[in-house]
Amino acid sequence: MDRLFVAIDVPEEIKIKFSEISEKLSSLNAKVVPMENIHITLKFIGETTKTKEILGILDKITFKKFQICLKNVGVFPNTHAPRVFWVGIEKNQEMESLFKIIERSLENIEIPKEKREFSPHITLARFKTITNIQKLKEILKAYNKDFGEFDVKEFILYKSELAHPNPRYYPIKSFKLI
Ligand code: 2AM
Repeated sequence: MDRLFVAIDVPEEIKIKFSEISEKLSSLNAKVVPMENIHITLKFIGETTKTKEILGILDKITFKKFQICLKNVGVFPNTHAPRVFWVGIEKNQEMESLFKIIERSLENIEIPKEKREFSPHITLARFKTITNIQKLKEILKAYNKDFGEFDVKEFILYKSELAHPNPRYYPIKSFKLI
């Protein structure tokens, strides 16, 4: 069994811009995502035995390169009981289309569709318990800004291995956009 997901990598020069926020979140008892694990998930596949078929399906996808803008920060589900601290991605028709094409293609081999709506984001940290909501609100306010844009030239099939203190993500294959 492989635990798989499809993601877009974030360039190093953009990830660096998150380090200040990550430091502040650490002081709030959050579990910060290490720099090398930061990505944008397009499709979480989960445990599967169909890795070979998935590779075949993803190989057939033809999609044009596009640009995305990273903007604003927020928490899921809300500031009263935050679980995930994220950096947002400006609404992007092309990324949504790519997600839909991937999802529909994988449905052909019985990889189930996501029940929740696609809400692309970059997870920077996760909370178990948070003691200082006021401080969190200050961080949310301070970083409601632009983090820049970048060209998406590929998407990647990752294998995830659950480990402590953080999961390890191994790229299985990258699929170039045209
Ligand atoms: P997250 O960052 O919002 O937690 C690898 O686990 C990636 O797949 C993470 O980026 C995670 O999103 C995403 N993902 C989506 N659904 C998931 C699920 N049900 N379980 C674990 N990870 C999931």
